[in-house]
Amino acid sequence: MKILVTGGAGYIGTHTCVELLNAGYEVVVVDNLYNSSELALKRVEEIAGRTLTFYKADITNKDEMRMIFEKEKIDAVIHFAGLKAVGESVAKPLEYYSVNIAGTLILLEEMKRAGVKNIIFSSSATVYGSAPEMPITEKCPKGTCTNPYGWTKWMIEQILMDVHTADPSWNIMLLRYFNPIGAHSSGLIGEDPKGIPNNLLPYVAQVAVGKLKEVGVFGNDYPTPDGTGVRDYIHVVDLANGHVKALEKIKEGAGLKIYNLGTGKGYSVLDVIHAFEKACGHEIPYAIKPRRAGDIAMCYADSSLAKEEMGWQAQYDIDDMCESSWKWQTMNPDGYEEK
Ligand code: NAD
Ligand code: WQD
Repeated sequence: MKILVTGGAGYIGTHTCVELLNAGYEVVVVDNLYNSSELALKRVEEIAGRTLTFYKADITNKDEMRMIFEKEKIDAVIHFAGLKAVGESVAKPLEYYSVNIAGTLILLEEMKRAGVKNIIFSSSATVYGSAPEMPITEKCPKGTCTNPYGWTKWMIEQILMDVHTADPSWNIMLLRYFNPIGAHSSGLIGEDPKGIPNNLLPYVAQVAVGKLKEVGVFGNDYPTPDGTGVRDYIHVVDLANGHVKALEKIKEGAGLKIYNLGTGKGYSVLDVIHAFEKACGHEIPYAIKPRRAGDIAMCYADSSLAKEEMGWQAQYDIDDMCESSWKWQTMNPDGYEEK
């Protein structure tokens, strides 16, 4: 089976390509390298000991996408490509709606034209907004997003549901990721954010390696056990394997399915800092700061549906996540550099 991976050079994309190659799939990547490096794909091939096909192309370019679908006989698409920085999306909403929504529409039109009706979409727990109950199951209704990035995920889910209603022969998997962190155990691929990281883990890792001074903890007055925000951190390799399981489900003719991908466990900001201290072997300086606008107190998944229906379950714990992240950070203090 040949899988087109949009955004395959990115953080989650590279880890997924490794697991797809390991599972014997043929992999075709389309990525414009806006937030990634071709070196990451070379590393993927090195880890897997197999090659993939790479097109440096933009999903918003209809001609390029048409050429790829005409040239390659694609069986299914895993769609990661898009913009993902929450704060930036507030400042540049048009760019986010244009790349994420228009890019997805072009991808879907070209899939339809080529007769490819299998797609796995990278959605996010952000579509739940501020959920009234924890853990969050897929039965929890979608909520109100606090930023344009979140709304693009919300809207793309709706678009895909409408596509399925119009033609139920499509197989559409909406995977709602919680907080992916960690890196491949080889230390060869990992998260390589541009500039100062916005997310907790890459920030903590850069403080640990000495590139940043201290972690700012955004609020310690939330109604959580230690007052800091609680999230469901999931190892990126577990997440990658979730996509391999989702492909197996598609082969059964699954129709439209929605799954949470998380561990079911919540960790606070301070828990994460302490787990990272254990991994790197020294103290990590931090300071309590005001709450960050748009943050919620707590967010963790009930992922039992993915277990029941796909046989998927997270294998790695918070220590594995921090150790692998630290290995990646120390082996590649400047990320892929050539980016
Ligand atoms: P990433 O930025 O590392 O990967 C996205 C990739 O898409 C990059 O390689 C980028 O160059 C590429 N890209 C961007 N615009 C493109 C375009 N117009 N055409 C072709 N390629 C383009 O991000 P990631 O963390 O790997 O996330 C992958 C997907 O998962 C995204 O859709 C993201 O919204 C979603 N997601 C991420 C998280 C997270 O916390 N990382 C959580 C939930 C959902
Ligand atoms: C985690 C916790 C912060 C940074 C975001 C997106 C979400 C999804 C994953 C894509 C929170 C605290 C953070 C820092 C801190 N992405 N924090 N100091 O906000 O849960 O989710 O990424 O879909 O849509 O919103 O992740 O890593 O930014 O924050 O104290 O320097 O760490 O307040 O409690 P978040 P995060």
